[in-house]
Amino acid sequence: MQKILVIDDEPSMRELLAIMLRKEGFEVLLADSRARAAAVLAAGPVPMVITDVKLPDGDGIEILRHVKAASPETIVIVMTAFGSTQTAVAALKLGAHDYLIKPFDIEELRIVVGNALEKQRLQEENLRLKAEFRTRHGLDRMVGVSPSMVALFELVRSVAPTGSTVLVTGESGTGKELVAKAIHALSPRRDASFVSVNCAALSESLLESELFGHMKGAFTDAHQTKKGLFEVAHRGTLFLDEVGETPMAMQVKLLRALQEKRIRRVGGTEEIEVDVRLIAATNRPLESLVQERRFREDLFYRLNVIPIHVPPLRSRQEDIPLLAEHFLSRFGREMGKAVAKISSEAMEKLTRYSWPGNVRELENVVERAVALETSNVVLPERLPQEMLSPSAAAVPPLTEGFSLDEHLRAVEADLVRRALEQGGGDRAAACRLLGISPRSLRYLLEKHRSSLSA
Ligand SMILES: Nc1ncnc2c1ncn2[C@@H]1O[C@H](COP(=O)(O)OP(=O)(O)OP(=O)(O)O)[C@@H](O)[C@H]1O
Ligand SMILES: [Mg+2]
Repeated sequence: MQKILVIDDEPSMRELLAIMLRKEGFEVLLADSRARAAAVLAAGPVPMVITDVKLPDGDGIEILRHVKAASPETIVIVMTAFGSTQTAVAALKLGAHDYLIKPFDIEELRIVVGNALEKQRLQEENLRLKAEFRTRHGLDRMVGVSPSMVALFELVRSVAPTGSTVLVTGESGTGKELVAKAIHALSPRRDASFVSVNCAALSESLLESELFGHMKGAFTDAHQTKKGLFEVAHRGTLFLDEVGETPMAMQVKLLRALQEKRIRRVGGTEEIEVDVRLIAATNRPLESLVQERRFREDLFYRLNVIPIHVPPLRSRQEDIPLLAEHFLSRFGREMGKAVAKISSEAMEKLTRYSWPGNVRELENVVERAVALETSNVVLPERLPQEMLSPSAAAVPPLTEGFSLDEHLRAVEADLVRRALEQGGGDRAAACRLLGISPRSLRYLLEKHRSSLSA
């Protein structure tokens, strides 16, 4: 039952309101003074207050202030006597939801209270939608049930609210950028920009003006003064993708900007303060680049405050069916095709494949399969040829029924077939490709005769 606190010093008014509101299904609390009202409110939150503006020990405006300070979501309706609309207006300015002019009838009361409840419901709905939006753009976009991904989600959730620098590592296509975006979306910086820079895509001088901006006339093509991405990301998150490819000379400047939290535009003299959270990503281990002296050690330590590793897809086979279904429904929707499921044979191939291109490769394979599929089930025929050969498969999960002999035999036969195909049927070429003697090839052709002629 929804609680309402009625504050009025006139007993007949309190009684009338209590009867009317109880009939409407409310739990009614009563107070005859400011002091009594304060005591009731101190005992716990009340979602709605209806108060007279003139009380013996103070006025309703003060109560309004008190309530709004203690509990901003509480809805306050003030009651004024006819002719004192000025007070009503003052109350509205202070955050009262509405006012009632005495005397009023039950219908008016019903409408005012009804509107107030509706407004409260919308406010709550709005808050709920906002929270939902945040999670959707946070981790809900990332699919994963494997223990390593569940642990990663946990880490992202705990790291996001801090301002710490994060270094995301992992092979190409594993979801590093998605992790970076989730951290931003779950952080207090979510309302400011997430700015992404690919450090490998730009030459040294372009990267510098891209990151720090430039003044008009700083170099030949600088026709206009331009803000750098550090400034654009102010109060938000700057994502440095492929950070390992940053040219050496830029690394010094980057380090300086990170240490001092200030930048200077190319050709400029003014130091500009920037407040950015940095997330960097790399698919090459920075430690080895440091050893090769291609990455500064001091910059590495600056970036590697919180390392997050995104594991390759082949090491989390449990995630493959789930990701495949996720992409199937997405592409089905986008292409307006009702491809309902992936056949169990096709799913088996997907699960066993080694996925050198990780999640991005899986995404592409499913997109292609949906585009080609004419039935409502994805069949193995719709998968790329290279996925169908046994040697493309990662070693399947070891369960009873697995046979090492059979597996090796299938891989061997497949490699022989591919060598012959690639060599255009020329046996000498096949021997060279396989690194075996003609005699060994003859032996293998005999051994696998039945499967090769298939
Ligand atoms: N766990 C996941 N759930 C759903 N989609 C994912 C997941 N991981 C990756 N993806 C999708 O796979 C694609 C590749 O992800 P992303 O671009 O984040 O990878 P990356 O590691 O940054 O790759 P690269 O190193 O090539 O830049 C994107 O389309 C992304 O939406
Ligand atoms: Mg990326």
